[in-house]
Amino acid sequence: MELRKINRQDAAAQWAYTTALPENENGLTNPFHGVSFAEYEKTVLPKLISYEHPVDMPDWFVPESYYYLWDEDELVGEFRIRHHLTDALRSGAGHIGYSIGKAFRGKGYDRKGLALTLRIAKETVPENEIYLRVNKDNIASQKVMLHNGAYIAGEDEGHLFLRVKKTDIE
Ligand SMILES: CC(C)(COP(=O)(O)OP(=O)(O)OC[C@H]1O[C@@H](n2cnc3c(N)ncnc32)[C@H](O)[C@@H]1OP(=O)(O)O)[C@@H](O)C(=O)NCCC(=O)NCCS
Repeated sequence: MELRKINRQDAAAQWAYTTALPENENGLTNPFHGVSFAEYEKTVLPKLISYEHPVDMPDWFVPESYYYLWDEDELVGEFRIRHHLTDALRSGAGHIGYSIGKAFRGKGYDRKGLALTLRIAKETVPENEIYLRVNKDNIASQKVMLHNGAYIAGEDEGHLFLRVKKTDIE
């Protein structure tokens, strides 16, 4: 299993994943649900690749890297890392967002994918802890975070805020 950064060679598989991902599932948003392959190749893919080194983006936009989790030749999930915190991210979505394709859920992919993503975040983000947020009713995602060493740092009405200390990441 490996995490591969978003790229042009894997366009077909990345598009199939992106177009099928719901617009909003448990707070993970995807404005590209239903996009055609032609549109994905022409505008969406270049835009998502550019997020790592944003150009012409608003001041609040933090660089973000997209990765896909591959099991052999199957793309099973997506993991996004925001490179540093802002006040909005600190009290909001945090550093990492992820999803696993519907056909591949319940097989441990997220657990493994988050572990690999945390290893990258440990080397790339400046903060000492990796911040995560999850809806209170998203038990599967909470379990995955806790399995990966996260502790509950706070909550609001609908969310839990979890953090993983860099020293706890293998
Ligand atoms: C959340 C999500 C990423 C989990 O992916 P996954 O690959 O199915 O997760 P895993 O198989 O690695 O682990 C799921 C764990 O939750 C448990 N689980 C799943 N559904 C559950 C439920 N309804 N109640 C309790 N536990 C549940 C599983 O038993 C497993 O626990 P275990 O490792 O102790 O056996 C996936 O459901 C998803 O993409 N959801 C939509 C987007 C989303 O919610 N993203 C996260 C936002 S914070």
